[in-house]
Amino acid sequence: MNMDLNSAKKRISELIELINKHDELYYQEANPIISDREYDLLFDELKNLEKEFPELVLQNSPTQKVSGGTIEGFETVAHKRPMLSLANTYSIEEITEFDKRVKKQLEHSDFHYTTELKFDGVAISLHYKNGELDIALTRGDGTKGDNIINNIKTIKSIPLKVNKVEIDGKVLENFEVRGECFMLAKDFAELNQSRLDAGLPLYANPRNTTAGTLKQLDSNEVAKRKLNASFYYLLTDEHNLKSQFDNYQIMKELGFDVSENIERHNSIDSIKDFLEKWEEKRHSLKYDIDGIVIKVDEINLQNELGTIARSPRWAVAYKFETETVETKLKDITLQIGRQGTITPVAELEPVLLSGTTIKRASLYNEDYINEKDIRIGDYVMIEKGGEIIPKVTKVVLEKRGVNSIPFTFPEEIEGHKIYRLEGQAHYYIDDSSNHPIIVKKRIEHFASRNAMDIDSLGEKVVSDFVDQGILNNIKDIYLLKNHIDKILTWEGWGERSVQKLLDAIENSKKQDYIKVIYGLGIRHLGEGSAKIIAKYFDNIDKLMAASKEDLVAIHEIGDKIADSIFNWFNSEENIKLIEDLKEFGLNFQASIDENTSDLLLGKTFVFTGELERMSRKEAAKIVEKLGGRETKSVSKATSYVVVGASPGIKFEKAQKLGVEILNEEEFFNLVE
Ligand code: IVH
Repeated sequence: MNMDLNSAKKRISELIELINKHDELYYQEANPIISDREYDLLFDELKNLEKEFPELVLQNSPTQKVSGGTIEGFETVAHKRPMLSLANTYSIEEITEFDKRVKKQLEHSDFHYTTELKFDGVAISLHYKNGELDIALTRGDGTKGDNIINNIKTIKSIPLKVNKVEIDGKVLENFEVRGECFMLAKDFAELNQSRLDAGLPLYANPRNTTAGTLKQLDSNEVAKRKLNASFYYLLTDEHNLKSQFDNYQIMKELGFDVSENIERHNSIDSIKDFLEKWEEKRHSLKYDIDGIVIKVDEINLQNELGTIARSPRWAVAYKFETETVETKLKDITLQIGRQGTITPVAELEPVLLSGTTIKRASLYNEDYINEKDIRIGDYVMIEKGGEIIPKVTKVVLEKRGVNSIPFTFPEEIEGHKIYRLEGQAHYYIDDSSNHPIIVKKRIEHFASRNAMDIDSLGEKVVSDFVDQGILNNIKDIYLLKNHIDKILTWEGWGERSVQKLLDAIENSKKQDYIKVIYGLGIRHLGEGSAKIIAKYFDNIDKLMAASKEDLVAIHEIGDKIADSIFNWFNSEENIKLIEDLKEFGLNFQASIDENTSDLLLGKTFVFTGELERMSRKEAAKIVEKLGGRETKSVSKATSYVVVGASPGIKFEKAQKLGVEILNEEEFFNLVE
């Protein structure tokens, strides 16, 4: 790719914004609008550009945040043994091939197979020390994962302390179990029903919801979801384990949930019945499975067979085909999500698919509809894909009638203008619109924990208050005290709860300036960018007076955020809101936190080699507190390279590029 530096900078900033947006849609809103594949393409493009232009790697780049599938905020721990995946097969012939390979390598056929259900969930690895749960890891990149122990502890069926089980006369108390975390279909349906009632976008499927839940940094949130876990793999250095089939029994005795549906076979022939039975019966289960796992039962033979690349030679997955059905597309409606995203939805002639009746399916966005030429009145194929369920995959053109109607997006919804910006996949309803959904979202966001932290003003209360007409805008929060008498007549409200609400509102006036600007809900302005903005414009008047150029001049602020901030403050309604909020006494001035300063503002640091006084991570934190930032690679734009003992290649690069080099002592002199 031949891109000049400026175009690369622009594209990188666009990609970061796009990826952040899709992350938010996926994780926070559970409403992805592009496929995983499309997402990966964006991510790869960013990674490649950053590789080509290391000097443009921004600290807030998603490539820096997610390293190998681990998440900032959790401790990353190396797996004792890699967490592998399984090779997939789709036919009995492929299983026969697998059987042949196994026999060929072992040079005999004196062994057994087990067949087990393949849970469609999220893999976890639990380590027990002296019988007690010690760490709980996600799969991460297979070699290291996140320790999500606090989240795992909220899952009731997982023992914190295991039962006493002896193997060959010795108690089994130091071991690892691996299994799958998942949600029961009924709990998932209940969760989605409550979202539907609250007018929130629905979650795609139990697996994604489980994955999103386990990644929550707040365990209280995890505790609210009903997660389960079923275990299928036992590992220990202290005992001689003999068979996978027996391990199931051992895990059960230890106190873990294990599947009842495991069978042992003398040969591959009887496996076929098991596959057929479950292909048929899978929908009678209370949870999703996406296939069957076939394993060599004898552990010594498993070890002998070993692994290849990322999967074991002793096991294979038999995946069920994705189910597809045909039905009629009766209508296309538009669903408004948080922040005004508009998603077209297919209203279908109800049809049974994978055990559930499907009435609606996602159509993603305008391009998707156009590319597939999906028209109202068409017969369409519906698929319950792994990711977003269900979706319309194609039109049955042979059945298209003369009355099918192409779909065009309207100019407005219920009198509120909608628009699609260049380069964006979907339509938005005007940000400043007063559509009840937008109003609710705006107020809810303002009151949320990471913004103004008005605990009592959650989703449901905001929704009720808007419906009752006492909240129409953010500023109305500070006028709620005028409606006490009315609120007290509503169900669920008493003197105490009202007082609690008023106290929380009063307290919010003390929230930091950063939180206030984040709370305003300016599109694209996340918590990270709010922090940066507050650093450069330390009071709201300065921010309101900033031109687009002033905003883009900040390295971390891309065109889109700059545009969005500028446009937001260009609206009379918003200016009036700020004036009102000022009058209510909200904090519009950055506090002078003695822990932070601007000493290193705009400076970038690269660390290489071991530091004596502290870890590189801690040193990087100091840099950040002083307004600077750490980057991972050296470029001409790097301000300093800090060199500890046994430095790496970065040291040579710094010398070559003539970047200022500091030894540990010089670094501490600078920051102290
Ligand atoms: S065994 C080394 N057994 O499927 C073998 N995996 O697509 C490790 N899974 O990573 C896996 N049910 O997360 C095994 N009964 C089962 C399973 C199972 C679900 C998951 C697991 C694995 C993935 C591979």
